[in-house]
Amino acid sequence: MGNSGNLRLSRVLLGVTAGIAAYKAAELSRLLIKQGHQVQVVMTPGAKNFVHELTFQSITGSQVRHMLFDPAHEAAMGHIELARWAEFVLIAPASADFIAKLYAGMADTLLHTLCLAVQAPIAIAPAMNRNMWANPAVQHNIMGLQQRGMTIWGPAVGDQACGDVGPGRMLEPLELSQRLKDYCHSSTGGSFIGRKVLVTAGPTYEPLDPVRFIGNRSSGKMGFAIAQALSDEGADTVLIAGPVNLMTPQGCQRINVQTARQMYDAVMEHIQDIDVFIGCAAVADYRPEMMLANKIKKGDAEMQITLVKNPDILQSVAALPKRPFCVGFAAETENLEEYAKAKLRAKNIDMIAANQVGEDQGFESDENALLVFWLEGEKQLSKQTKSTLAKQLVELVSEQLNKD
Ligand code: PMT
Repeated sequence: MGNSGNLRLSRVLLGVTAGIAAYKAAELSRLLIKQGHQVQVVMTPGAKNFVHELTFQSITGSQVRHMLFDPAHEAAMGHIELARWAEFVLIAPASADFIAKLYAGMADTLLHTLCLAVQAPIAIAPAMNRNMWANPAVQHNIMGLQQRGMTIWGPAVGDQACGDVGPGRMLEPLELSQRLKDYCHSSTGGSFIGRKVLVTAGPTYEPLDPVRFIGNRSSGKMGFAIAQALSDEGADTVLIAGPVNLMTPQGCQRINVQTARQMYDAVMEHIQDIDVFIGCAAVADYRPEMMLANKIKKGDAEMQITLVKNPDILQSVAALPKRPFCVGFAAETENLEEYAKAKLRAKNIDMIAANQVGEDQGFESDENALLVFWLEGEKQLSKQTKSTLAKQLVELVSEQLNKD
């Protein structure tokens, strides 16, 4: 079902009605696409006075629908097919006129007809002047729609286009997209709803001079897959990434860093209120004592570089007085189990995922295998794609977390 990962709800019909907030629906459609949904925009004829259909078409990649009697579309995806296609209907903005006709069961526009025919849930984001919103007729219609099982999102209180201040503004696009995300997770039972998580991923680069650094072969794939799996389960996910060339996982807040000390600072800045910390980054244990201002010139003599220790991010997080559930990784070329268990104890963490690394293993490749240890147990996760592995690891973390 689409590419929305575990959201399991991908086909959103976005209804846009006549109101000044219609211009915000363009941003909303962009956010919904970013969340991984397929978005089909249906406009009422009046909405076209406020925003051009080409705007939506450019963002969603689909032709906007607005005509009830449209021979071309009725021959292909007619209004009933469109109603069957939708897995969720979001009307934003919903004008007082639209709401009244919806309540009355009228079907004189394509959008109203669809709302009568659709089996999918319908959410309405009202947008109108505050006096209109307070009018008993509007309130009666809204309550009636709620009683029929429709969800009302908003309105917000604040400045209005007409100059008034009060309740009636459409909720902001970000808020509406978050409401839809929460709805998807609550209807699919995401195991991290309401949890905040922080994931580190990728390598760190420790500079020697302006053009050289000490780094490692981490591509960030494993950590990014974990962040995506957590976000798909409803977690509020912060991803702190070293220098990698990967797309930000959907729904995650990404912070880019280069060095271990920058990663340490970013983690410490965001660690408050975090429920789960997963350290998947391949953090450099050492850095050159100093970074030279200019490129080091080749000479006849051998060269020695003094390395100094970097802070251990995972250990520092685990030592915090109010610490999150801490998951570490162990990248080993030998004695996988022994070294991993030693790191579990030494860093005083709750779980460790050990992987054998070497040529074509662990680093860079799309697949991996993990041996996971926690205080009272262990589990072998066999070789498979990093994204499947990430989901299994996230499930294990959830099991242990819910034991506490
Ligand atoms: O990025 P990919 O190409 O997909 O590869 C994935 C991976 C192999 C990098 C990943 O699966 C992995 O093993 N990550 C941890 C690599 C590592 O640095 O392991 P370590 O055994 O050196 O460190 C142990 C743990 O301490 C890790 O959780 C690490 O993030 C953490 N650490 C290490 C040093 C340090 N200064 N601070 C830390 O927080």
